[in-house]
Amino acid sequence: MRAVVATRFGGPDVLEVLDLPEPTVGPGQVKVDVVTAGLNPVDAMMRRGEMGGQAPLRLGTELVGRITEIGPGVTGFTVGEEIIGFGALGSYAETHVLPATQIAPKPAPLDWNVAGGLSGVGQTALTVLDTLALTPGQTLLAHGATGGVGSLLVQLAHRAGIHVIGTASPANHDYLRRLGATPVAYGPGLADRLRTALREGDHPGIDAAVDMSGVWDNIESTLELVPLNRTITLVPATAQRSVPLVRVQRSAARLTHLAALAATGELHAEVQETFPLDDIVRAHTQLDTKHTRGKLVLRIREA
Ligand SMILES: NC(=O)c1ccc[n+]([C@@H]2O[C@H](COP(=O)([O-])OP(=O)(O)OC[C@H]3O[C@@H](n4cnc5c(N)ncnc54)[C@H](OP(=O)(O)O)[C@@H]3O)[C@@H](O)[C@H]2O)c1
Repeated sequence: MRAVVATRFGGPDVLEVLDLPEPTVGPGQVKVDVVTAGLNPVDAMMRRGEMGGQAPLRLGTELVGRITEIGPGVTGFTVGEEIIGFGALGSYAETHVLPATQIAPKPAPLDWNVAGGLSGVGQTALTVLDTLALTPGQTLLAHGATGGVGSLLVQLAHRAGIHVIGTASPANHDYLRRLGATPVAYGPGLADRLRTALREGDHPGIDAAVDMSGVWDNIESTLELVPLNRTITLVPATAQRSVPLVRVQRSAARLTHLAALAATGELHAEVQETFPLDDIVRAHTQLDTKHTRGKLVLRIREA
């Protein structure tokens, strides 16, 4: 089977598609023919060697596919079933083996490409909302609101009756409005633009903020309006400077909930572009721009 390998740490060109031995299924595991696999910024961090480990290393943490084999002790799943998998290290591959505790059924109407990019970002968005525990009518400031996590966070917050102000480049402002947020451009003068947005929206203030951009300037502007104990970040770079870092909490139950919302169209999961496995260098080059709208997804085989 073919899989992506980072042959050494570095830029996108360290990635190669290699022929590797077919994985075997152990107790509690399932084997999957992978159809799609989402790309996440953490994959680029691993490729650069920022997450430890040693090269060569396999990349990818999430996948969607069909079960081809079931290991001893697994109940509740059948061969041929369509599933979404998370915590599946090395998922940029034609086939993959992972624990049955890390899969959830893929609803049949859910598009394969959308499903491929849903797991990590969706579960992160839900973790952010659980952590901040905002109530209807309160206001959330989200930096990086048009990325993979942000696009889902804005909608989930909006559904919960929370007003969202999101930072994004002007080209993404209409997109952000469609998701349900008030857009504000990042960059110099941000704090003043946030005050204007609050005034125009008749909101008394910002109740909590989340940084998904990793840009310290955004935090500095935030702290003019939001107390530090109501500000969190998802990015280690900004956490190093005293803002609490929140890590994704994943579960099959959480993923099942997200998949149901996406399947019925209640949650729109934007996929900016899909790539075949052999285009992995181009896919990671786009990932490294940090200006993707929604998700990038590998389309590894036809369903
Ligand atoms: N702690 C955890 O467990 C956890 C889990 C998931 C993700 N993360 C981290 O969270 C971050 C976001 O993840 P993601 O998947 O959403 O990333 P992403 O999809 O790559 O985010 C891209 C978005 O960032 C926006 N952006 C770029 N520069 C910006 C700036 N200066 N101010 C505001 N927005 C800016 C871009 O908007 P424009 O194109 O409009 O500029 C783009 O839409 C990443 O650093 C990721 O590693 C952490």
